[in-house]
Amino acid sequence: MKGKTCIVTGATSGIGRSTAIALARAGAELGLVCRDAGRAGETVRAIRDETGSTAVEVFLGDLAAQDAIRRVATEITARYPRIDLLVNNAGVVNLQRVETADGIEQTFAVNHLAYFLLTMLLLDRLRASAPARIVNVGSDAHKFVSGINFDDVGFAKGYKAMRVYGHSKLANLLFTTELARRLEGSGVTVNCVHPGAVATGLGKNNGRVAGLLIRVLAPFFRTPDGGAATTLHVATSPELDGVSGRYFASCREAKPSAAARDGAAARRLWDLSTRLTGLDVPGRAGVA
Ligand SMILES: NC(=O)c1ccc[n+]([C@@H]2O[C@H](COP(=O)([O-])OP(=O)(O)OC[C@H]3O[C@@H](n4cnc5c(N)ncnc54)[C@H](OP(=O)(O)O)[C@@H]3O)[C@@H](O)[C@H]2O)c1
Repeated sequence: MKGKTCIVTGATSGIGRSTAIALARAGAELGLVCRDAGRAGETVRAIRDETGSTAVEVFLGDLAAQDAIRRVATEITARYPRIDLLVNNAGVVNLQRVETADGIEQTFAVNHLAYFLLTMLLLDRLRASAPARIVNVGSDAHKFVSGINFDDVGFAKGYKAMRVYGHSKLANLLFTTELARRLEGSGVTVNCVHPGAVATGLGKNNGRVAGLLIRVLAPFFRTPDGGAATTLHVATSPELDGVSGRYFASCREAKPSAAARDGAAARRLWDLSTRLTGLDVPGRAGVA
């Protein structure tokens, strides 16, 4: 990965942090998208201490806020003449329904729309840097739902945390499928990964009981390094040159659910995501 520029979201914790450290160790230059300056600074220090790399920059922005994503994308494209790898990794699970300042249910906003919008805004740079790769960190939790809830993607009715989380992860797979189709022949590939059940901070924002549960379950789960292994495999393996639109788990290709292989749903979700992020407005940068 020497000489390659990699953008990683959600690098302050868990799988994203392990991914960033491993990429730095492999010689990559890193741009980390983080929402908290303190945690970002601590991550940059950890990368320097563990790998000796100082080629790390932080782009501060809350991925729940589309304005922040636009600003961060502008800063990234101004900073890096090429982007070889984008890892969309930042994610949340919310026991209670929360709406973002944009009026969108937060799980859908962070876990899907942020992947979509950041990718679209960086796409011209990725295309110009081909061969380049995009890795979307999804989850086998996509199997919790049988399709996209097009009439109510924000679950204003019937909010159930794991269903809403699984729904956002199904969106990761459908986005991957449709983007791969649109990128055919461009030299930019996009794949989706399931990291396994990993002991991370996911869900820790849901209070003391959730935090306790995470600690109790941790010994039965993969370590964050183990969780990052599939992301790193898909991001860096020469044997996956040109491979696109696929799903991987435990560093092997895996079969997603039937709902995740629904091409019509993937196109419908694309159109909806375009509208919800304002990318349907002519002249907006990055539209594939
Ligand atoms: N853990 C598992 O078992 C598991 C299984 C399957 C898939 N996944 C997927 O793996 C990915 C990483 O999750 P993880 O398990 O490593 O969780 P984690 O330890 O909680 O890390 C999540 C990362 O996302 C960042 N993030 C969350 N909301 C954000 C926002 N609004 N703006 C910017 N950054 C934000 C967090 O930043 P802060 O430090 O600021 O909170 C943190 O860096 C997620 O996409 C998740 O769905 C995890």
